[in-house]
Amino acid sequence: MSTFPAERTAIVTGAVSERGIGRATVNYLAAQGWNIGIIDLDDALCKSTAKEIAAEYGVQAYGVGANVADEASVRSAIDTLEAELPQIVALANVAGVSSPIGYLELEPAEWNRVLNINLNGVHYATRRVAESMVKNRIGRIVNISSVSAQRGGGTFSKTPYSVAKAGVIGLTRATARELGEYDITVNAISPGPIDTDIMGGTLSQERKDELTKDLVVNRVGSTRDIAAAIAFLISEDSGYISGQTLNVDGGLYMH
Ligand SMILES: NC(=O)c1ccc[n+]([C@@H]2O[C@H](COP(=O)([O-])OP(=O)(O)OC[C@H]3O[C@@H](n4cnc5c(N)ncnc54)[C@H](O)[C@@H]3O)[C@@H](O)[C@H]2O)c1
Repeated sequence: MSTFPAERTAIVTGAVSERGIGRATVNYLAAQGWNIGIIDLDDALCKSTAKEIAAEYGVQAYGVGANVADEASVRSAIDTLEAELPQIVALANVAGVSSPIGYLELEPAEWNRVLNINLNGVHYATRRVAESMVKNRIGRIVNISSVSAQRGGGTFSKTPYSVAKAGVIGLTRATARELGEYDITVNAISPGPIDTDIMGGTLSQERKDELTKDLVVNRVGSTRDIAAAIAFLISEDSGYISGQTLNVDGGLYMH
């Protein structure tokens, strides 16, 4: 069983959105002593978020702007984070976009945009960190899928989103299988409705009540619900969990 180095870094993509899952995750992980690498679209926001995290939690943090759909920029961002921060032990692929376009109105550009960000983006970051984790013989990767993958949509987003998030589960399982021999685990989290702004803006109480009707738990999810699940799956003690999809969805999907 491999152990973690004393100083370790978690890279989180999609971590600057104020009310988003990624932002809650970097707070949660920094509070646990993880050093933090941030990747999101806007370089200045990545850097200011990293500064806030470092000041608030007394950890090292660094941010680099990159579009996860562009492999060259993802690789270069992770090169920089690796040079600036302690050993990369974890990657959380949180960056993503919604897509409310109905199937019959769908144009190729929308299909490609969503697949490029929500699926290819996860692959590009995973592929780059895997190279370092294989050398270090330790790693934890968590990918954010969605209940949309399991239920054929049925959320705010429609087909390309559901397809990309189903692809994330396939990518999780296949990379878990190939990377396991290096003590790298790869898991997915499949959130149900979470109170962020991704579903066409901040949720009104009326929409929250509507979303809650299908759940067994009596509320929509919080970003902390997902951050805590990510923290669990990247922890040192989670090394025997790999290739799994953890549904953090208030009981929306049971199988
Ligand atoms: N909120 C929910 O109900 C819910 C449910 C299931 C899954 N998810 C998934 O959780 C993840 C986080 O979503 P959220 O709800 O926090 O939304 P959000 O919009 O608050 O956060 C998304 C983040 O990703 C970043 N991002 C978008 N495109 C990018 C790109 N091309 N390159 C780099 N960064 C990019 C954004 O700038 C933002 O910081 C997404 O993958 C989303 O699909 C959310």
